[in-house]
Amino acid sequence: MPVTMVGRARERAELAAAWATVAGDLAGVRVAVLTGDPGTGKSALLAAVLAELDPTPGTVLAGQARIHSPAPYDWLAAVLSGRDTRGLPAPGPALAWLAQHDAAPVERFAPGALLRVATRVVRHLAGAGPAVLVVEDLHALDPASLNLVGELAAAPGLPALLLVTSRPSADPLVARTLARLTGTPGAIRAHLGPLRPADVAAVLAQVYPDREIPPGAAREVWQRTGGNAYRLTELVATTPADDMAALLAPARPADPAAAELTAREAEVLVCLRDGMANKQIARALGISVRTVTVHVSNLLRKTGTTSRTEAALWAVRHTSPTASLTPRSQP
Ligand SMILES: Nc1ncnc2c1ncn2[C@@H]1O[C@H](COP(=O)(O)OP(=O)(O)OP(=O)(O)O)[C@@H](O)[C@H]1O
Ligand SMILES: [Mg+2]
Repeated sequence: MPVTMVGRARERAELAAAWATVAGDLAGVRVAVLTGDPGTGKSALLAAVLAELDPTPGTVLAGQARIHSPAPYDWLAAVLSGRDTRGLPAPGPALAWLAQHDAAPVERFAPGALLRVATRVVRHLAGAGPAVLVVEDLHALDPASLNLVGELAAAPGLPALLLVTSRPSADPLVARTLARLTGTPGAIRAHLGPLRPADVAAVLAQVYPDREIPPGAAREVWQRTGGNAYRLTELVATTPADDMAALLAPARPADPAAAELTAREAEVLVCLRDGMANKQIARALGISVRTVTVHVSNLLRKTGTTSRTEAALWAVRHTSPTASLTPRSQP
């Protein structure tokens, strides 16, 4: 049974109020940045906020970094994917390049020119607004997308709410972009911590509507999951509905060995857990980006996950929080 969102009332109210001002004056961009560790509930909060926006947005442009090594302007390509791009105010070749169309010409464009075209395209799609621009997982975006998002946050007169989620990141470019975003006038910044014991109790009440929740059970589950929304929903989903005692039983030992990762794959997994992009992983491990992508696809297969986000969460659950990169022999 899917769990309905609990808690996060303050953040939801704050975001609803920001939307009201955007929709009210249609005069410019408001930025909201949601940060938090993997699985804290950034995407869930974003989805809940999007679903309850009043008035309904004229346009929602949503994109996120995609699997493996994202190409430049990957956010915009995600926004454009499946959209009719005819009539957009951009020269065909530049548009084909930005949209990552297969037949994109190998022509080179000056970075400044592409950035201007990309900004113009977003403005066009946002129209008279009020629009929502959704940037999921900013920490995993390519540098050109980061630059574009920073530019959009400061675009004069763009009638939009720019909603961004990001894990904390050691990447200086990501950190700089986050600072740029939160430095814009009226920006909202919410860092999502763990759920509170009361939130966990609310989740248990949803899952076991007909049962009495034993005193202390919520706190115990809260402790066991660290209040992490992902771990909580996983625990609930994998516990038989008629066996609440199992929720409180000691956790099964984590079993990274079961996935039979090679030492290198295990290292890459720790990097994914720490939110590193492929390029950073390559640099940290002294291997090529291409090799990193091979390791990533192998470990996705072995851990039974379908995205780097899921793999990172798998790592959160199966590696010790202190596991880190140790200096090691050459590949
Ligand atoms: N406040 C909440 N109440 C109930 N369930 C929640 C809440 N927040 C998150 N969840 C659930 O926890 C799981 C993880 O949440 P979510 O995917 O939003 O995390 P995230 O912060 O976006 O993680 P990531 O960094 O991997 O993108 C989801 O199944 C989601 O539905
Ligand atoms: Mg997410």
